[in-house]
Amino acid sequence: MDKKMWGGRFKKEIDKDFFEFQKSINYDHKLAEYDVYHSLIHVGALAAAEILSKDEEDALVGALREILSQIKKGKFKFDPECEDIHSDIQNKVKEKAGKAALKLHTLRSRNDQVVFDEKMYVLTQYIETIKLLSNLLEEIFKKSQDYEKRYFIGYTHTQRAQVVYFSDYILAYGQMLMRDYDRLVKFEEGLKIHIGAGALAGSPLSPDYYRRAISISGVIRKHFGELSSPMDHVSSRDFVIEFLSILAIIQMHLSRMSEDMIMYSTREFDYLDLPEEFCTGSSLMPHKKNADFLELVRGSTGKVYGSLFSVLTTMKGLPLAYNRDMQLDKEPLFASVETVKDELTIMAKFIKKLKLKKDNIDNALKDEHLYATEIAEFLVMKKGVAFKDAHDIVGKLIRHSEEKKVKIQNISDKLLSTFHKDLNKKILTKVMNPKYAVLSKKTAKSKIPKLKLH
Ligand code: ARG
Repeated sequence: MDKKMWGGRFKKEIDKDFFEFQKSINYDHKLAEYDVYHSLIHVGALAAAEILSKDEEDALVGALREILSQIKKGKFKFDPECEDIHSDIQNKVKEKAGKAALKLHTLRSRNDQVVFDEKMYVLTQYIETIKLLSNLLEEIFKKSQDYEKRYFIGYTHTQRAQVVYFSDYILAYGQMLMRDYDRLVKFEEGLKIHIGAGALAGSPLSPDYYRRAISISGVIRKHFGELSSPMDHVSSRDFVIEFLSILAIIQMHLSRMSEDMIMYSTREFDYLDLPEEFCTGSSLMPHKKNADFLELVRGSTGKVYGSLFSVLTTMKGLPLAYNRDMQLDKEPLFASVETVKDELTIMAKFIKKLKLKKDNIDNALKDEHLYATEIAEFLVMKKGVAFKDAHDIVGKLIRHSEEKKVKIQNISDKLLSTFHKDLNKKILTKVMNPKYAVLSKKTAKSKIPKLKLH
């Protein structure tokens, strides 16, 4: 049996190497379930238009449902000899439904099927991704509560800056991921699924037939939209690029989190105790506990950004309408989806088990530099000093302490008053501590954002 869906106008056999090169079955088999949905809707429309008899409709629906149940049970085996999943399912329907299968592809094109299939894939993956993302957010929120009111070192330029609450620190990542959450929700709301574009010029079937057939499936009904431009429909992959962009932003956030945790767990910082279950050792150096999970997340950024750029570049010069180049959007799409989902799953478990090294953090909190800004702010707020002057006074104080190798809090009142008349030990003791530092800030509230679950 010829496994291709075309061939009538060809005299020569397809070159074997070229056949292997052009086929997509090895990856687009992941779209099998959605391709069956397209066929079920299409059969419904063909029957409504009386192009199929009742018997033919029953035979096709029966065959398609059998295939669907195999897919759902994980028993579906794709035929690697086929060009793509659309041809494979067409052939399988033929084996089960006989002659009626000759009418399955009436007035339709794989160009229409493939967009439908990919949109359904993206919708399904959206649902899974948003679940995993909320799960990670829950763990971040819990961790912020576990360590509520615990002080942490805030950095800018990777230099010690000011004292913050650990909850403020970790909730900053919560905020980033919340925005990703909102981006995903908006993306889903805007995703429109069409059917009936033909190869590019539309279909002689009335959209009413499709609308009626679609009412069998709730998910599709919500997203079903009137087809206003069949040419745009079969030739756009904006929805793939949009989804990949959101995944790339999530990836960027996960990578930043990972980098922070890698750094804070080194012996140079030593603020975090990473869960051993997600680390590996060295085959040579017995002492090593390497943050491999975090490194792999950081490293996967190349793959996830690459996927986005791959599809953007594939699309950039394509003339209207469908071109075979577009087949190449699937591997990058699948790769990004699978990578980000895995990362979200593991990151939630990782955060749950993450621990702070309290003693080391407390030790770091003794660093007087961390309170320089608070001294300057005190002079401004309580003593009416101009900020530029306050900045200068504290700068000189820090310089004195470094040059003379003396702690600011050990400088005598007499000497302190030469920096500013109102400076004394009592004031410095009040200002140079973590509690004062965080409580003096009115805009940092460390609130857990509201997660409206979808
Ligand atoms: N495998 C193709 C793809 O992924 C399906 C559409 C093929 N259409 C065609 N006219 N060759 O884009």
